[in-house]
Amino acid sequence: MIIRQYIKDFENLGFGMFVHFGLYSVLGKGEWAKKLLAISDEEYYKLAEDFHPEPDWADRLVTTAKRAGCKYITLTTRHHDGYSLYDTCGLNELDAPHTCGRDLVREFVDACRRQDIIPFFYHTLLDWHEESYRTDFREYLKYLRKSVELLCTNYGKIGGLWFDGMWDRLGDDWEEDALYGCIRKHQPDAMIINNTGLSALGALGHIELDSVTFERGKPQPLNMDGAPKYVASEMCQVFADHWGYAKEDLNYKSPADMIRDLVLCRRYGSNLLMNVGPKGDGTLREMDAAVYHLMGEWVSLNGEAVYEPHPCGIEVENKKEDFVLKKDGTYYLFCDHLPMEIDPNVGREEEADYRDVFRLDQKIRKITWLDNGENVEFEQKNGRVTVKTVPYTYGRQLVVRVAKIETE
Ligand code: GLC
Repeated sequence: MIIRQYIKDFENLGFGMFVHFGLYSVLGKGEWAKKLLAISDEEYYKLAEDFHPEPDWADRLVTTAKRAGCKYITLTTRHHDGYSLYDTCGLNELDAPHTCGRDLVREFVDACRRQDIIPFFYHTLLDWHEESYRTDFREYLKYLRKSVELLCTNYGKIGGLWFDGMWDRLGDDWEEDALYGCIRKHQPDAMIINNTGLSALGALGHIELDSVTFERGKPQPLNMDGAPKYVASEMCQVFADHWGYAKEDLNYKSPADMIRDLVLCRRYGSNLLMNVGPKGDGTLREMDAAVYHLMGEWVSLNGEAVYEPHPCGIEVENKKEDFVLKKDGTYYLFCDHLPMEIDPNVGREEEADYRDVFRLDQKIRKITWLDNGENVEFEQKNGRVTVKTVPYTYGRQLVVRVAKIETE
């Protein structure tokens, strides 16, 4: 099996921010608005007149990601509407340099470099604007490759390319060898990801692809038996129902759900790519910023367990939500659903099993909670470990707690 180091490095990034940003951000009805609301070209592309992100949009976004513990950001450099945030160097005029006099991808990349975040580029494969997509597919593919080549040559080293939309012409020959070959030529260590969409979660594809995707799905353990190449996995998730900014989308998941999504991804060695849809001026909706902020609080307490520790096959026998990750000789026990000790007049007392039982032969030296350093009681007999978890004391509820297990 081929094992490439940059794929292993990608897995250690653990948590990334997905950014859907483009003309649709001005309209505020989601990134599919043009198509699903049947907006004419004339009306839709006029949005460009009002697309003037604030000068520091990229820095602010990167700061939000950084504070939350993200190690990379994947930006929609061109989405299905065909508008590019980067300089297409004359390939067409539907790009940010022509409509707002700025290369927004350059601004993004520069902001990432300043704050030590790895930039990744989302790029659409399908195109609602480019006529050749419908009338001369071969010609369109050349245009697509030239576009991608610009992204690979004009912005320094990038983390990877994230394609989306192949599902729109599934039976057709997308000349994937040529597309991925062009990336490998200029960016040999870039991750190449091609979103398989909702219909084929976790499916492996072309040999050059480096990660499977679980769009809005629950990540699954990958079975790599007999696979020619080791690949990573990544789940992208959205806060509400739209990836691009939608003013009237109130259907938010809770921050606790988002923390659990991150935890679940890491359980299976998957990365979480959590989306925000900035408004047309590049600022975030308050709710998006707030959820990111809360996740950051969780990551700042438990970050040690988030990036490098990986699945190790240890099962917690009495609780299916709880699990163990491993890094070198250190193990991390993730404990979900610990209730809070509470007066019955203030809240409902819940029954709980304050034990996590699993097998571990290595001798344990000590166990501590990552969030406050307190010791955790445990018993280890003949390779069977019982960890005594405790309820939250009033004033704290951290959704998932992590106990660090150090061995001799
Ligand atoms: C879907 C949508 C697209 C979105 C993507 C994110 O493929 O077509 O709008 O960018 O999911 O994963």
